[in-house]
Amino acid sequence: MTQAIPDRLLEWLESQPQRRLTMAQFMSWALYDPESGYYSSRTGQFGDRGDFVTSPSLSADFAELLAVQAAEFWQVLGRPDRFVWVEMGAGAGQFAGDFLAAIAGTELEATLHYRIIERSPQLRRQQQERLEPWRDRVDWWTWEDWATQPTVGVAFSNELVDALPVHRIQWQGGEWQEIYVTENAGVLQEVLGPLSSPDLVDVFADLGLAAAIARLPEGYRTEVHPAAKQWLAQVVQGLQRGYLLTIDYGYSGDRYYAAGRTDGTLQAYWQQRFHNDLYARPGQQDLTAHVNFSALEVWGEALGLKRLAFTEQALFLMALGLGDRLMALSQPQSGSDLSQLLRRREVLHRLLDPTALGNFGVLLQGLNLSPEERAQSLRGFTVPASL
Ligand SMILES: C[S@@+](CC[C@H](N)C(=O)[O-])C[C@H]1O[C@@H](n2cnc3c(N)ncnc32)[C@H](O)[C@@H]1O
Repeated sequence: MTQAIPDRLLEWLESQPQRRLTMAQFMSWALYDPESGYYSSRTGQFGDRGDFVTSPSLSADFAELLAVQAAEFWQVLGRPDRFVWVEMGAGAGQFAGDFLAAIAGTELEATLHYRIIERSPQLRRQQQERLEPWRDRVDWWTWEDWATQPTVGVAFSNELVDALPVHRIQWQGGEWQEIYVTENAGVLQEVLGPLSSPDLVDVFADLGLAAAIARLPEGYRTEVHPAAKQWLAQVVQGLQRGYLLTIDYGYSGDRYYAAGRTDGTLQAYWQQRFHNDLYARPGQQDLTAHVNFSALEVWGEALGLKRLAFTEQALFLMALGLGDRLMALSQPQSGSDLSQLLRRREVLHRLLDPTALGNFGVLLQGLNLSPEERAQSLRGFTVPASL
């Protein structure tokens, strides 16, 4: 299914030296063009009635359980007087609202300041409306603000990294070529050309995969993630001391670049369905690529971010108390509304679903922590008692 190419996209394409865009440029346009981008021009992307469901849009339980982990981070950091929880890419602001409601009246509330860094001005406006009740506790920063005022606390994201633009490359004649996007006869098409930057493929050496890559089949296509590397550098610039907590779908580097994954992971998301037509409805559908968690670890280490733990969302949430919530539902009070109980149970199971949200990766990295702080075993990363 292909749709007319928006004029703004065509104009931009025409202005490029070789009339072609890298996939990262195309993805940036399709998601964030101020007038026509998916996150700028539309509302209602998140949740069962939108294009895709994220854990915060599914249920407040996600943010409530994360608040348990936040309190523990604060304890380990020595209960600082000012503790900042920075959410990067806050969508419609659901997580922030539920998290702030969850910590209301707790010890953490007195010291926690909530900060959001959001690329889309349209989503920022939605967040500001939703978070009006917490106006005094929340602020919105740009990445420039972040770099100049170092912060103690936690930099958190859920499904941010999968929304960062990627480059697409193809193994051809024993070398990597880049897949560009161009237009021909009113249709967006792919063309191969030399890499837009030789550094794009450094990731294979960084992950010790250079020998395996040489054996990939001709025509193998995949993605590389320089924007994720740049994002880590941005995080480190403003995090004086604390944690980076990343929740998203993805693979370790060897699974990402397995010989059998011949067409990478980049997909479009529209009305609750994944599909492969990346050029259908430019600006109206989400484009997303899996996260390379090994690359985040290796690039993070080079920036001083120590890998502290990695787990799956199902185990993480169970360790933080989701099992107790499920248990409570199996012992309903007399007079409980049965259909409501069943609905709630279904939602909790979806957060744990091993074929979907439950299988997401949860990566914890630490910056400028003492050896004792790094050695603390944190509740979300222990084996849950109720398994
Ligand atoms: C897939 S949505 C996830 C939203 C939300 N975290 C959730 O789980 O429902 C990705 C979010 O990241 C934002 N975003 C993408 N790139 C960003 C960047 N470089 N800095 C800040 N926000 C960004 C998008 O505008 C959007 O809010």
